[in-house]
Amino acid sequence: MASASTVILGTGAYAPSRVLTNVELSKTVDTSDEWIRTRTGIRERRIAGPEEATSDMAVQAALAALADAGLTKTDIDLLIVATITPDYPMPAAACVVQQKLGLRTDVACFDLNAACSGFVYALDTGCAMLSSGRYRHALIIGVEKLSSVVDWQDRTTCVLFGDGAGAAVIGVSSQPDVGLLGTKLGAYGGSVDLLWITHGGSSKPTTAESIAARDHCIKMKGKEVFKLAVRAMDEAARDILEQHKVTADQIALVIPHQANLRIIESISQYLELPMDRFFVNVDRYGNTSAASIPIALDEARLSGRIKPGDLTLLVAFGAGLTYGSALIRW
Ligand code: ACO
Repeated sequence: MASASTVILGTGAYAPSRVLTNVELSKTVDTSDEWIRTRTGIRERRIAGPEEATSDMAVQAALAALADAGLTKTDIDLLIVATITPDYPMPAAACVVQQKLGLRTDVACFDLNAACSGFVYALDTGCAMLSSGRYRHALIIGVEKLSSVVDWQDRTTCVLFGDGAGAAVIGVSSQPDVGLLGTKLGAYGGSVDLLWITHGGSSKPTTAESIAARDHCIKMKGKEVFKLAVRAMDEAARDILEQHKVTADQIALVIPHQANLRIIESISQYLELPMDRFFVNVDRYGNTSAASIPIALDEARLSGRIKPGDLTLLVAFGAGLTYGSALIRW
């Protein structure tokens, strides 16, 4: 478990300016605004420009988080980028972000792939590394350009995803009982085939045939993912609450992964916690995978939904199928 004195010092987010509405999407695939809204709660999503890479969005979110923390780039000595859509299969997006941000060359930089749970995994990893005493400030970024791996002819997936970035600067505080109180991480590796990109890795390298079959794009069994997502998020939330002897009604705000409003509503019912305790912005961004929780966290802070002393619960699930929860005292 991470030390109680690793704290979030600042947050930032970035969303590309291009807004793709449901109505616009319904002109290119056989869908409707009504279907998408009622099944998912999504109204629109942001789409990165053709020249805008994952690293570019990450840099914008990172600059905002650094400014919010009142720190400069020279203060950072650890960078973790959670993403499933790095600029290149190799090297890590973190190295590209390091160069674009102008971080020092003695900064540890790596990517972390836990799909939509990526930010929670990266936060836990970053806090554990800070607790070792060998790092002072870490930049944790969740970022995705999912529009680059979505099959825009597949209505069952293309309506769900969007692009964006969120970041947090974390550091060590001498104040006890604040910051990351604990996490619960896990994965159902037996369900890899519920949500994946089948080609382009070492198992099935890209071929002309795989590109023609659109096998370099996201494939998903939506109904199965839905069921497992609700189960995994409920368990991850309960586990962390039990671990810390906290009851659900002591949580001021839950920041869930923003995949589908119906999934969030199910978690609200299972935890018997009203929806006004859940932060929701899936309507404006769709599912931005690893970026979803840090974008929501930044918006929640900026809109005054998080106050000093509050307990916040982050809860996520994603391809893998990974899951994770984190309990934070502000
Ligand atoms: N527009 C119109 N109709 C559609 C669309 C669409 N965009 N997509 C599917 N349909 C049709 C289907 O073809 C089906 O038609 P049929 O009954 O004639 O066969 C009908 O709508 C119902 O389809 P279902 O798949 O049963 O719809 P469901 O209510 O399960 O909703 C959804 C689908 C929204 C995908 C839901 O299952 C879901 O949200 N699952 C979770 C997905 C998720 O969260 N994924 C992200 C994981 S996180 C990560 O790591 C990236």
